[in-house]
Amino acid sequence: MQNRRATITAVGGYVPEDKLTNFDLEKMVETNDEWIRSRTGIEERRILKGEGKGSSDMAVPAVQEILRKKNIDPAEIDCLICATVTPDMVFPATANIICDKIGATNAWGYDMSAACSGFLFALTTGAMYIESGRFKKVIVVGVDKMSSIVDYTDRATCIIFGDGAGAVLLEATEDQSIGVKDSILKSDGSGRQYLHMKAGGSLKPASAETVLNKEHFAYQEGQAVFKFAVKGMADVSAELLERNGLAGEDIAWLVPHQANLRIIDATANRMGLDKEKVMINIQKYGNTTAATLPLCLWDWESQLKKGDNIVLAAFGGGFTWGATLLTWGYDSKK
Ligand code: UT7
Repeated sequence: MQNRRATITAVGGYVPEDKLTNFDLEKMVETNDEWIRSRTGIEERRILKGEGKGSSDMAVPAVQEILRKKNIDPAEIDCLICATVTPDMVFPATANIICDKIGATNAWGYDMSAACSGFLFALTTGAMYIESGRFKKVIVVGVDKMSSIVDYTDRATCIIFGDGAGAVLLEATEDQSIGVKDSILKSDGSGRQYLHMKAGGSLKPASAETVLNKEHFAYQEGQAVFKFAVKGMADVSAELLERNGLAGEDIAWLVPHQANLRIIDATANRMGLDKEKVMINIQKYGNTTAATLPLCLWDWESQLKKGDNIVLAAFGGGFTWGATLLTWGYDSKK
């Protein structure tokens, strides 16, 4: 196929049933519903409860929804990339565990570690595999069980994060009017001081002391991250529009990382977009890290139309950030 392009042909998602509301958090830490809603836009988050359940247990139903919708045999999947910072285990990759659980016996895969930008990085990578012609069906998953690395005595972080999973299927198309068209991806490791997990890696392996010091939880300097996030996400989104000769009016939807409503608003303003064109579900899921973008696509899938220009934008630990422009390829009903 000449001039092959990668296009999303299906979306799946999963959020756990259990909710953790702002009012629940009021009973756990010194905070209140008004503060959380006005500073972040979050009202509640979903939490994966129960012993022996990891990220793969959310990713599996998300991917199975795609298989069901498209009537695909799991053996047809060529590759599965799983973006996550909360893998089931440090190794093997959660991608391998997902493939085993769904019966994707012919797929190879790996985990993408790029925090909140993980889905965006994995989507771009997966699209290139399709464009190259080497692979026909690539699944990209964004999943995080943030509740497994959140300290529920730390009000600075526990109010933000939630659990969830989303996935898309990428396939090839000859139709040049649709598909994944352009991406600007960035990373800057000097930002690691502001958002990281202190122990559990090779630098500081787990010990009784690291557990005692709560060093296996997500550490974030919120204000510093906020400043970088506002600038980073808005800059790349505006640059992406400019280099593709597009203005806000040409964009049907902005799919922003759901970390903070104020960061989302700043990005939309910079792109010259009306609020009705911005996908926002932070109020019900919180920040699900790698899952925010596919969960937006999942929630909005039934409203998307063939030909809609969509910009996905993210910012997260690393620092990592970026924006992707794609044109939606199908009309769907959920
Ligand atoms: O997804 C990965 C990337 N992450 C992000 O993009 C997150 C970026 N950061 C943020 O979204 C925000 O910085 C937070 C939501 C984390 C915090 O909001 P903020 O407006 O930056 O608050 P702050 O840390 O500047 O704190 C303001 C005040 C402080 O009190 P004083 O010093 O002004 O008296 C805090 O102690 O609010 C206090 N505070 C809280 N009060 C009630 C901090 N956390 C809370 C809380 N409830 N949960």
